[in-house]
Amino acid sequence: MTRREFLEASLASALLAPPAGALDPNRLPKFVDRLSIPRLAQRAGFKTSPFAPGRLIPAYRLPMRAIQRKIHRDLPPTRMWGFDATSPGPTIETRRGEPLLVEWANELPDKHFLPIDHSLHGAGREVPEVRTIVHVHGGRVPPESDGYPENWYTPGKSVTSFYPNQQDATMLWYHDHAMGITRLNMFAGLFGLYLIRDEEEDALNLPKGQYEIPLILYDRSLRTDGQLFYPVSGDPAKPWVSEFFGQAILVNGALFPFLDVEPRRYRFRLLNASNSRFYYLSLSSKQPFWQIGSDQGLLSAPVALEHLTLAPGERADVILDFAAARGQRVVLSSDRYTILEFRVWSTSGIAAVPIPGRLRTIQRINEQEAVKTRLLSLDGGDSDDPTLVMPMLLNGAFWHDPVTENPTLDTVEIWSLINTTDDSHPIHLHLVRFQILDRRSFDVFTYLNDKELRYTAPAVPPDANEFGWKDVVRADPGMVTRIIVRFEGFAGRYVWHCHVLEHEDFEMMRPYEVVRSH
Ligand code: C2O
Ligand code: CU
Repeated sequence: MTRREFLEASLASALLAPPAGALDPNRLPKFVDRLSIPRLAQRAGFKTSPFAPGRLIPAYRLPMRAIQRKIHRDLPPTRMWGFDATSPGPTIETRRGEPLLVEWANELPDKHFLPIDHSLHGAGREVPEVRTIVHVHGGRVPPESDGYPENWYTPGKSVTSFYPNQQDATMLWYHDHAMGITRLNMFAGLFGLYLIRDEEEDALNLPKGQYEIPLILYDRSLRTDGQLFYPVSGDPAKPWVSEFFGQAILVNGALFPFLDVEPRRYRFRLLNASNSRFYYLSLSSKQPFWQIGSDQGLLSAPVALEHLTLAPGERADVILDFAAARGQRVVLSSDRYTILEFRVWSTSGIAAVPIPGRLRTIQRINEQEAVKTRLLSLDGGDSDDPTLVMPMLLNGAFWHDPVTENPTLDTVEIWSLINTTDDSHPIHLHLVRFQILDRRSFDVFTYLNDKELRYTAPAVPPDANEFGWKDVVRADPGMVTRIIVRFEGFAGRYVWHCHVLEHEDFEMMRPYEVVRSH
């Protein structure tokens, strides 16, 4: 989505008649609440590893519960769903190669408080309203622990998942993934962070402790009584809406918070946990974001960015240097949305440790290694009749159609995502990390009519901050976006989908299966 399209989309959603009692967040005083930082999850004890009998590994228990949380000083507490009394949930922190277990307990009420669309696949009246299944986004996890959307369970039940953590240091996140209601469960607050550390990262001597701060961004619509509301279509039998854009941008659960910072370097770990919103972040001081890492870990070298784009599901690891802003206030915003104020102390700066010029070696996967190229279209959503609601599909297939993407374990494939729609879709594959090869515009009309791929311009390389390992890729409208993937780790059933949660819930998600070679 371009910046213009983004603005139009936001405007359109603002016009979607907000209910009586909708809150205009800009009426609230800004920067009256201190930024809160999700606490670390405490392990409940040790249990035997399911894969190494006799080995004891840390075991956590995170119950999902209905909670109340204050979003802003002048608002009453907001009802939401969280993990262990908080939303975002507690941060799980571990190191590479140190496996752990999490018992995800569903202790939610039996009734949902958001508008379920029973006409969506998997969310019919024959299944219970409140269902959850947690997925660790970006984790290389065995299939039975990955949080398959159909493996949901109801209040009173729990599931224990095993996380091997055999992967590079990065910031993953956990969130609900229940079939047909993921957008509502996540909107309710069911997500949190999952940090993996390793020696490669340690050796870089990056800001840590109080100088390393996660920033989880997500937008919400609120009523004047502080309660969440999720919009509905005009059809009570089919309340699903195609995208959600809220006017209140929360960071770590608060609206317009502030953070006191020293005039020095900080490391911020950003996550876009929004349902649909893309962020185009900038700083009032016009200073650059030094991006050092993306979804799946460190880049090879820092990239200076005046604007940082973050699609739903994406993460960015950035260094900000407040040394030159001593005594000033620096505001983080996304287009016309104010997000967070940094209040820089006027004390003298601390001699900055330089940002390492080289972070790590990232071997590009050679295209020659690919044993297969799959052409996969992103379709639908458009109809000349605006009252007709159309699902969005991956390669023309519905969720319940047989598996068509069945890569062989330990082989490399190229997936060409042919976006025939007017939207940018952030595409995410479970289990794997991948690299972006390029994006290239094509003639959509010819493709839709004759299935012929006619390129209209040369291929463009990924953005400078997209050369690292990724697990979400922006598939822009009218473009073929190519990614190269090595399917490694585990064989079995996983999913790939659009991370715009409204799309994901309405058929823009497909199972895929990694198969063993014979
Ligand atoms: Cu963050 Cu399948 O999702
Ligand atoms: Cu999408």
